[in-house]
Amino acid sequence: MDLSPLQVLLHDSGLDSLLPFAQEDFLQQIKHGDFPRWRDRLAQLPSIRPSSLNYGSKVSIGNARDSDHQTLSLLKEQLREFIPWRKGPFDLFGIDIDTEWQSNLKWDRLVDQISPLHSRKVLDVGCGNGYYGFRMLQAGADFVLGLDPHIAYVAQFWLLKHFAATAPVFVLPLSLEQLPAPLNFFDTVFSMGVIYHRRSPIDHILQLKSCLRPGGELVIESICVDGTEGYCLTPQKKYARMSNVWFVPSIATLLQWLSRCGLTEITVVDESVTATTEQRKTEWMPYESLADALDENNVDLTIEGLPAPKRVVVTAIRPY
Ligand SMILES: C[S@@+](CC[C@H](N)C(=O)[O-])C[C@H]1O[C@@H](n2cnc3c(N)ncnc32)[C@H](O)[C@@H]1O
Repeated sequence: MDLSPLQVLLHDSGLDSLLPFAQEDFLQQIKHGDFPRWRDRLAQLPSIRPSSLNYGSKVSIGNARDSDHQTLSLLKEQLREFIPWRKGPFDLFGIDIDTEWQSNLKWDRLVDQISPLHSRKVLDVGCGNGYYGFRMLQAGADFVLGLDPHIAYVAQFWLLKHFAATAPVFVLPLSLEQLPAPLNFFDTVFSMGVIYHRRSPIDHILQLKSCLRPGGELVIESICVDGTEGYCLTPQKKYARMSNVWFVPSIATLLQWLSRCGLTEITVVDESVTATTEQRKTEWMPYESLADALDENNVDLTIEGLPAPKRVVVTAIRPY
């Protein structure tokens, strides 16, 4: 992992307060049992120069003619060591990574509804393996910084970045709470699929807001349930098989939270229900998926008997 391009970018952008996180010393102190294993695997990746980079619906790096058959067969085995691949899809040198999520569908629903990303500096909180970061570059972002504390997803990003070294997208193994606040910097901040995992959703919104420059845009995407303003589902234990869901707001409640945190121009830009064609078990994510989280006799309920998740995308502005 060559951290020097990120260090230069942070320094040139005046984000020196983030420099301590872009150091080998910082990575060394990560206490995650699998971290050394991921690093060993990354170190064994072949060096292949991609003849093309395409950040369309399927994020594609190179093609099958960029290397020999033996190297690419070995690469496919190496990619399988990074299973589960949840967000995507990707194509690496002709190897098709059919991820659990068809993440392009969410992107298609929102990309034309947000302020155009052209020349914007973007923070993607809870970015997973960085799939959306590449899509943000395709939409013209100046650069994208992603944060995710889940080291296995960050390792997937580093794998992609190993081959797409020139792409101005970076991911650090950090949670939002670890950032020095306030940054007052980014033109657009995304938080997609994160807020219901937070024990304090209001603090999450305030932290996102503090990363934005005045006038910048927050794009927040969440699971939601039907309900009036003030209503919020707090699962007793699991929700749709997930044990780390704390608050699932109604749309009206989410809007109220954003308003209460001082954001303005709050706009619902998309509402959807995830189908099992969008999130499903695949060869690259062979474990339980959405179909296993819903009541097989009633898709309006989760297996816990709670209202099945819907999804909403909201934009909001940090006022001057
Ligand atoms: C449901 S996934 C969403 C991934 C992606 N943003 C998307 O919309 O498909 C939630 C991600 O948020 C990350 N996450 C959870 N808490 C976080 C926090 N406090 N700060 C940053 N990321 C967090 C998780 O590790 C996970 O990768």
